[in-house]
Amino acid sequence: MTKKMKKEAKVLSQKLLADGIFDLWLETEIAKDTCPGQFVGVYTVNKAALLPRPISVCEVNKEKTAIRLVYRVVGTGTAEFALYQPGDYMMILGPLGNGFPLEKAEGKRVVLMGGGIGVPPLLETAKRLSEGTDVITVMGYRNSETFLSDEFEKYSRLYIASDDGSVGTKGNVIDALKENKIDCDVIFACGPMPMLKGIKACASEKGIKAYLSLEERMACGVGACLGCICKTKKVDDHSHVKNARICTDGPVFDADDLDM
Ligand code: FES
Repeated sequence: MTKKMKKEAKVLSQKLLADGIFDLWLETEIAKDTCPGQFVGVYTVNKAALLPRPISVCEVNKEKTAIRLVYRVVGTGTAEFALYQPGDYMMILGPLGNGFPLEKAEGKRVVLMGGGIGVPPLLETAKRLSEGTDVITVMGYRNSETFLSDEFEKYSRLYIASDDGSVGTKGNVIDALKENKIDCDVIFACGPMPMLKGIKACASEKGIKAYLSLEERMACGVGACLGCICKTKKVDDHSHVKNARICTDGPVFDADDLDM
């Protein structure tokens, strides 16, 4: 398990990537230990909000000791983050969570599936996997604002789905998987719960192993609010009930262990 640190991080750059979606690079030592699929907790300046906001890591640049966060503005905390400029400092905690089990994809046909703000954590995943294997990615968007798609094309064969049908397959990522007759052994996915439920069902029907990141369900990200409980098939050693905290036990789970 990687050691988490609470550190000041320097803003290197920030820009608007799509409607309400920001692209932020931070210089931080946390980059040294961050794995694909992990996240960081970002603190607001407003001390009334003591708990950090969980944001997934989109990309890691170890040479520059920097991480990239691509996040959607959804409330006052993330609206504050969007105001940061190069040279400003933010307090962050990380790396948090378990990340995707890249070793499970070794020698296998792997497909990465992301929907909405579940797209960003799969970029670093695609980058790392592309060093040893051919990667297929299937990304789902609301419309033609297909943020990060040009970067996914560098590391993978990319298929796109959009809700309004303006780009790629009309529908969701599962529709795109079926329309393009994509076959695989392993799926890594991140996105909204209905999408993940659909992927779990589709994977189990076809005998595909799936690992799902439930990060959209997180609140504090540090095990304090219990707002992220998900049902599991196994009894948890600690709580003795069939559930898990997404932020501390996940956010990535073997789909077979989830009751969803
Ligand atoms: Fe608060 Fe998991 S998000 S306990």
